[in-house]
Amino acid sequence: MVDAVRKVNAKGEKALDMGTGTGIVARELAERFEEVWAVDVNPEVLRGTLEWPGNVNVLVSDLFENVKTNLKFDLITFNPPYLPEPYEEDRELNCGDGEVLEKFLAGAGGRLTENGKVLLLLSSLTPELGLEGWRKRGVVGLKLDFEELFVLELTRRGP
Ligand SMILES: C[S@@+](CC[C@H](N)C(=O)[O-])C[C@H]1O[C@@H](n2cnc3c(N)ncnc32)[C@H](O)[C@@H]1O
Repeated sequence: MVDAVRKVNAKGEKALDMGTGTGIVARELAERFEEVWAVDVNPEVLRGTLEWPGNVNVLVSDLFENVKTNLKFDLITFNPPYLPEPYEEDRELNCGDGEVLEKFLAGAGGRLTENGKVLLLLSSLTPELGLEGWRKRGVVGLKLDFEELFVLELTRRGP
């Protein structure tokens, strides 16, 4: 995901890193955006992180639940739980039937600025996603032994 952020040369006013975990992606965004929101549902992973850059706002939230509705972002990144159950039991990586991803996409559309985009990391093992309403473009890919990881850039289709 960090490679993808660099490749699209993302920069702007506001960015949000969903499922920030240790904050590796949020740190890259902090160098490129004026304000960054680092969001995770698990307060433990946020507490484990050492120091956040001064322009990062850290928030515990189940997806967009606690993100103020008046905030709009130029970029939203998500390295989500993307593996179905047979591969992963841990909540950090287990996306069930893809409902976290579907819910994320349903919420993300309304949180973007006019030319805002989403960078979403997926795997060849991720259950198929409904991407109606989005234009997609592959940004980076990585072949591993048992799966292929790739980052999609998503922009909203017009009305
Ligand atoms: C694959 S890890 C990614 C961690 C980090 N962003 C990275 O790239 O290394 C997925 C993260 O998503 C978080 N997560 C899972 N479900 C979530 C939800 N409903 N809302 C927000 N974060 C969630 C997990 O706690 C975990 O930190």
